[in-house]
Amino acid sequence: MSGADFTYDFPHRHLTRIGDLNRVDVDLLYRRAEHHLTQNRQPDKSQDSMRGLTQVNLFFEPSTRTLCSFEMAGKRLGAHVVNFSASASSTAKGESLKDTVLTLKAMQTDVFVIRHPSPGSAQFVADTTGVPTINGGDGANEHPTQALYDCFTLGREIGDLGGKRVVIIGDILHSRVARSNVALLNLFNADVRLCGPEALLPPEAQDWGASLYHDLDEALDGAHAAMALRIQKERFEGTDLPDEDSFFERFGLNHDRLKNAHPDCKIMHPGPMNRGVEIDGDLADDPEKSLILKQVEAGVALRMAVLEFVTGRAPDMTHRETST
Ligand code: NCD
Repeated sequence: MSGADFTYDFPHRHLTRIGDLNRVDVDLLYRRAEHHLTQNRQPDKSQDSMRGLTQVNLFFEPSTRTLCSFEMAGKRLGAHVVNFSASASSTAKGESLKDTVLTLKAMQTDVFVIRHPSPGSAQFVADTTGVPTINGGDGANEHPTQALYDCFTLGREIGDLGGKRVVIIGDILHSRVARSNVALLNLFNADVRLCGPEALLPPEAQDWGASLYHDLDEALDGAHAAMALRIQKERFEGTDLPDEDSFFERFGLNHDRLKNAHPDCKIMHPGPMNRGVEIDGDLADDPEKSLILKQVEAGVALRMAVLEFVTGRAPDMTHRETST
């Protein structure tokens, strides 16, 4: 006997935090991202699943890859994409986030992508407008699409992440990339280690589901992947910035640092990189080791999938389990 015994439809209309997703949600997104990764390598990249929809990218913080990536993603799917930059808008005249998003909703926006310095701002937009909302980074809180494409990229390279040791290094305290990645790596049952200086590695990070290290050599022992993070200078309040030379001495990734890691240890970085501070330039450019540009490429494909799913425009949003 065979048949579709169990089906599950992707239920989310927003993506504000990794904790809202389960493994099936992630698998559905990854299946679709694979399709886009292939399609994006064709000379004609145009698809039309989001034809007629209006996507507004609301960016209240600087961005290179996240903004360009979401813009390309929407355009390749046929959406009308509007980029809203806070510095050139009425925000500079004192307009609140609530009034800004209600104004844009009144113009019949179909999906928001928001980057904002305040934790919780993406959820606020989702709750205030009811318009599908994707978090492109809210303060030091979460950056869910980053984590989704980081794990997607790593999984394509090293297979199932279950039991794999992934070390995230540097300014954990101020990193939304770290928070979202720990949550997603835990969903995959990876062995997650966080490593950084005492002042940048809060003890409560243990509660996120990771073990904490202050010694990089110890942390990298047997690692399948190491992810370097930028020191988030813009988020330091009242604490001293670490000295860059001594930071590299203790926490900078280079080829030599990987001697006790797994021989195929992969190197990751969400960008923007500060070469010579958290990562050595030669290692970042080493095509055998570095996944950095693969992460960027996968970012567009993954964001295309997320845009389609939250707007209900993915051609297949159903997971099916059949038993025989
Ligand atoms: C990250 C961010 O903005 O959180 N960048 C990105 O989106 N790729 C990391 C950073 O700014 O250091």
